Formats: sequence, C-alpha cells, structure tokens
Amino acid sequence: MYDLASIRAQLPALASCTYLNTGTLGLMAEPVLARYREALDRAHCFGYLILDEFREATERVRLSLAELLGVRSEELAFTGNTTDGLALVLASFPFRAGDRILTSDQEHPAVLLPLTLACRRRNVVVERFGVSTEKEETQEAFSAALYRTRPRLVVVSHVSCETGVRLPIEEITRMAHAEGACVLLDTAQSIGQFPVHLADLGVDLAAGNGHKWLHGPQGTGFIYIRQGCLDLLEPPLVGDGAVVPPFDRHAFRFDGTDWCFRGDARRFEYGTRDWARLIGLGAAIEYLARLGWEAIAQHQAHLVTTLWERLENHPSIRWYSPTNYQDGSGLVTLGLAGWSGERLSGVLWEDFRIVQRRVQVPDGVRVSCAYFTSEEDLDKLVRALEKLSRRAC
Ligand SMILES: Cc1ncc(COP(=O)(O)O)c(C=O)c1O
Repeated sequence: MYDLASIRAQLPALASCTYLNTGTLGLMAEPVLARYREALDRAHCFGYLILDEFREATERVRLSLAELLGVRSEELAFTGNTTDGLALVLASFPFRAGDRILTSDQEHPAVLLPLTLACRRRNVVVERFGVSTEKEETQEAFSAALYRTRPRLVVVSHVSCETGVRLPIEEITRMAHAEGACVLLDTAQSIGQFPVHLADLGVDLAAGNGHKWLHGPQGTGFIYIRQGCLDLLEPPLVGDGAVVPPFDRHAFRFDGTDWCFRGDARRFEYGTRDWARLIGLGAAIEYLARLGWEAIAQHQAHLVTTLWERLENHPSIRWYSPTNYQDGSGLVTLGLAGWSGERLSGVLWEDFRIVQRRVQVPDGVRVSCAYFTSEEDLDKLVRALEKLSRRAC
C-alpha cells in the first residue's frame, strides 16, 4: 500500500517548501538519514577497529545495487557520482586517433566535458544525433547518424536532463552492437525513477549516482562494466585495493610487472573509502525497495499525467516533455509565454517557495515528480503558473 502521508512525514524538508527538484538532489528520508548518521558516528568512534565490518557492509550494498540494476556485483565499482564514473570510463577507453563517438544533443556536461578532452588528447571525433519527444523520431535520427558516422562508442543518457525524454536504449544498443560499437549509458536521471535492468538493456558500460532518484547520500555513485568489457578498459589511475595480489611495498619492481589489475570492476576502486556514505546508499535502496520500484514508477506516472491534464489547455504554458510517461519520466520541463526560464525559476522560488531548476534549452524550468510528490504539490505549481501568466514578467 503506497501511503503517501506517512512517506511525506519522513521528509521534514517538505514542511518548509514544495520540493520539485529531485532531478538535481533527492531528499533522504529520516530512516535513511538515521542509518547514515549511525554509520558515520561508528566510523568516527571506532575507526580502524570496525573496518572489516564496514567493508562487509559495503559489499552487501554492492549486492543490493547489483540486484536493483539486474547485473553481477563484480561488474560494479563505486564512485563519488555519475560525473566521476563517466570521466573514468572515458579516460580508460582505448580510443585510437580518428575514432568516432556518437552522442545526443541533450547531454549533460558530465558527458560533454570528458568528450572534449578525448577530442583534445586522443584525436577522436564526436558526432551528435537529435533527441525528440517522439521515440520513433529519436530512433530514426540515431540510426541515420550511426550509419553515417560508424562510431566506436555511443554515449547517451537514459533520461534527458533537459526534457525528461526516456531514450530507446534497447533499440539503440541493438543497432550499435550490430555495427560493432560499444554503448556507455548515463543513468544519472533514470535509476530509482523506474526499474532499470542494465543487462536487459544490453549496454556495455554505465555510470550513475545515489543522490538523485535513489535519494541516498551525496558523494555516492557507481560504474557498471559488463564482464566482457572489463579487459577493454585499463584504469587511468591505480592504488592499493585495485590490484592483485595485494601490493607488497617491501618486495616489488618499479617496472610494474609484478602486479595486475583486479579481475572485476573493483579495479577502479582504491584507497580509503567513505564507507558510511555507502551504508547510507544501501539504506536508501532498501527503503525505496520496501515501497516498491513499480509502485514508485506508477506514482510518478500518475503525477505526470495529472500535471499534463491540468496544464494542457493553458494557452501560456509550453510543455517540452513527452506527455506519455513511458516515453518520458518524472522530469517535466515547462515554459511560460513571456517569461525566461531564469526569471520564472527565480520567482517560483522567491514568491511561492517552489524548488525547481531552470533549464537553458528549451528555455524553461524543470520540475521533478518524485516518489513523495503529492497532487497538492502540483496544485501549488499550477496555481503559481496561472498567477504568473497574468503578471508581467
Ligand atoms: C543526465 C545527467 N548526467 C550526469 C549528471 C551529473 O551527475 P552527478 O551529479 O551524479 O555527477 C547529471 C546531473 O544532473 C545529469 O542530469
């Protein structure tokens, strides 16, 4: 039973604002925060004495994340966020000069910046295809770009941070593989919104975070490396923990010939970790799993439909996202005639205490319908937009 009143009672932040910005940062529920704080306190009190206990707890988190993503735990490495993960994978990919990379026209800087570095340092060429709110159009644009550019790697978001469009990843991966290209998926905006099974999607590589739709601690993220791709990627950095056998600092050769990277994704992890954060992430996954991933997706789908029904006939509203949840997500980008996104975003916060985020292209604001969002939250947004549509910008 999806009991929204008790869900909201565990989120004290909701008392002071209308929170529609999970696409930037999720909200940690009280029971999750309590587990995170407890782990942090224990780490500070007992430190070294409980390292083994914390390591084991972290491995359990890896298992539950693997179950959530439909992959093997050996295929996951923890990172600090999605940006970390994408940068690491792109720095590890064995590009040759002249290789082509295909990406979309709605990517986050977390994808774009490492791609510019790959162009500068490794002489690759990046091409883009257009994402549309119509799935078939996106598929056609991708297919045309794929055959035109013959990329070695495709890098795409699962859900666009600009419009909330859900890209047809299964189809994209099938087409890319048929042409011999690997697929790296940015799941920053999808995991936790609706069930995501990376193995079923067929992608080779992925990165994501724990602080948005999983509503876990900031500073948590992961990379997924499909077993068959592991040897393709050589980490750009190394440290204790990433190699086998354990590095013996009293007997080793500086030519690096007496160690090798671990045979699983943990080759990307080294040094002391923030175990407490990862324990917090595990608590967040458990908390949402108890509510039910399907129930969360259905709740969000209902909210997006409700918002669309409330706004579709409003002459001043510009709706830039898919109206069908299956092709979109809980992220909705809206514009108001005569208002810039920047100004609208500022006034929604200053005058109405509605937390959302400005989008530059398309020019508007992005609202997030999350597992805790209520119809009353949407009413407040709709009333604010109606009021503003009558006010000079
Ligand atoms: C699509 C997309 N990719 C990557 C990122 C960066 O994520 P992180 O904050 O986990 O580094 C974001 C953040 O908003 C995003 O929306």
